[in-house]
Amino acid sequence: MKVTKAVIPAAGLGTRVLPASKSIPKEMLPIVDKPAIQYIVEEAVRAGITDILIITNRGKGALEDHFDYYPELEERLASSGKNDMLRSVRAPAQLANIYFIRQKQTLGLGHAIKSARSFVGNEPFAVLYGDDVIIGDNPAIGQLCAAYEEYGLGVVGMKEVTAEAITKYSSLAVSPLHDRIYSVTNMVEKPRPDEILSLFSILGRCVLPPEIFDILDHTAPGAGGEIQLTDAMKELAVTRGMTGVDFEGTRYDMGNKLGILQATCEVALRHPEVGDGFRAYLKELAKTL
Ligand code: UTP
Repeated sequence: MKVTKAVIPAAGLGTRVLPASKSIPKEMLPIVDKPAIQYIVEEAVRAGITDILIITNRGKGALEDHFDYYPELEERLASSGKNDMLRSVRAPAQLANIYFIRQKQTLGLGHAIKSARSFVGNEPFAVLYGDDVIIGDNPAIGQLCAAYEEYGLGVVGMKEVTAEAITKYSSLAVSPLHDRIYSVTNMVEKPRPDEILSLFSILGRCVLPPEIFDILDHTAPGAGGEIQLTDAMKELAVTRGMTGVDFEGTRYDMGNKLGILQATCEVALRHPEVGDGFRAYLKELAKTL
């Protein structure tokens, strides 16, 4: 079955990027000239997703405004002939059918996904974590959707991380199938060193069958006292099996300060308008380091 719906959880408190995220949702922090969430929505659209639910929270109204029209601004740009700028201002509102719902209490990623149940209905759906931007020619979520269509099982996007980093993420039990595709039979969120199953970790993307909602209904709070999506996916992996895709593309963690700086630098270097100037500046700066 073709995946046409996506859910973007963006209701987290963003404590690792305070105070920047106090009144601006961290998903709205820019990478050069577009907010992080726009890269994520564009990735989903390039993968053939047509309907997107963004899960927000109190104080995240800027997300809704960004994907809406802004008539006064557009009229001003049109009347002064700034057509390129006008196109870029209108583009986010035209990307897909975008819906919003609020997670009324910040009880964890698994809890956030539960609020997508009526939007999703009885279909498989993609999940793109609102603070994980993945840049690449081949949209990462499209690679996962293809694996869903091939095996009919839930899919996680994964990458190998360091032994030090894995205790902050999740760890997967995997065996290779073909190319960058693996079978996933178990997983653990924020493993202690003696619980590490492999250095493959879920990073920012998955495709889930609707059965996940019944599992989430009985998923108890886990690491950090939050209802963890990984704990629900573990039940899926153990009982039915899941598929893992070691996706192509570079992932930037916009939920931490270093990730934001890395994304900004690398996207700026490739940017048609500022790329050359930024490269020259960086070369000069590097001489002083
Ligand atoms: P994170 O744990 O990275 O986000 O969740 P956070 O809670 O905002 O981060 P810190 O630790 O406080 O800095 C991964 C994704 O899940 C969403 C976040 O918005 C992020 O996109 N999330 C997390 C929710 O939507 N609801 C939650 O209750 C928790």
